[in-house]
Amino acid sequence: MTRHPRKIIIDTDPGQDDAVAILLALASPEDVEVLGITAVAGNVPLPLTERNARIICELADKPETLVFAGCDRPLQRALVTAEHVHGKTGLDGPQLADPVMPLQALHGVDFIIETLRREPAHTVTLCPLGPLTNIATALQRAPDITARIQQIVLMGGAYFEVGNITPAAEFNIYVDPQAADIVFKSGVPLVVMPLDVTHKVLTNRKRIEAFRALGTEPGRMVAEWTDFFERFDMQKYGSEGAPLHDPCVIAYLIRPELFQGRHINVQIETMSELTMGMTVADWWGVTKRPANALFIGSVDADGFFALLTDRIARL
Ligand code: BDR
Ligand code: CA
Repeated sequence: MTRHPRKIIIDTDPGQDDAVAILLALASPEDVEVLGITAVAGNVPLPLTERNARIICELADKPETLVFAGCDRPLQRALVTAEHVHGKTGLDGPQLADPVMPLQALHGVDFIIETLRREPAHTVTLCPLGPLTNIATALQRAPDITARIQQIVLMGGAYFEVGNITPAAEFNIYVDPQAADIVFKSGVPLVVMPLDVTHKVLTNRKRIEAFRALGTEPGRMVAEWTDFFERFDMQKYGSEGAPLHDPCVIAYLIRPELFQGRHINVQIETMSELTMGMTVADWWGVTKRPANALFIGSVDADGFFALLTDRIARL
């Protein structure tokens, strides 16, 4: 039986780990068909995230990929960025040339809406790797698309690891908690990659050198990005390397058996400033609230890096 690649839209705020996720997707056409990439404000402001998305497509030698600019700020709150992690450009590390491929004229949110209306129902999966502003805006503006989405597989939140941008909240959810609240209440089947799992896919010398040893431009870029990106987590957590958060989303679509989680209820804190953006995850089933997400908790990290290195080698 021929297996069709899963159609996806990557919604992203690159970010070095977003970049690795996009490369993994573009290197895996038998598993995922990237219908388009929508940029959102997050790690850095929108003009940089849409530019970075195009740089990454060119690095993968896929300049025909459709890249759209989406929302430039969260639904209600002021934008919080993460240059302290990703550097001034969002992709600090190696020298990168300006992109030549065009930015599409259509707004990213309109692309999401039009694509979901055009493609058969339940055949398009959304892959948010940043704040959920574009996705929530699309759901609000076009409620008819809600029932047409196959799945949303997102990076965001935490339970056991609690927070990285505040003591209580993970960055993507914290930046736009109102948007996250809309997505988690939408009824769309959700798969969530929280810090609990992404903090288990850490780079180390051997893993980074394996990328460099590929001897290709994408291999060298991945090595240099992760070299840059890991200094932050090593200083903060004393960990061996950097977590490759966002590639977990794409790896899950390619090899779901690498991951394990629980179907649980997850709600978003939107009221208290102290715990704003916290993902209140009922991991232990202490309430009767119905499950709305597959919340991932563990991963085969060696399997993950073997897959990633193997796919980056193709570019
Ligand atoms: C998330 O925040 C960003 O800095 C990363 O790209 C990732 O999506 C991790 O909290
Ligand atoms: Ca991201």
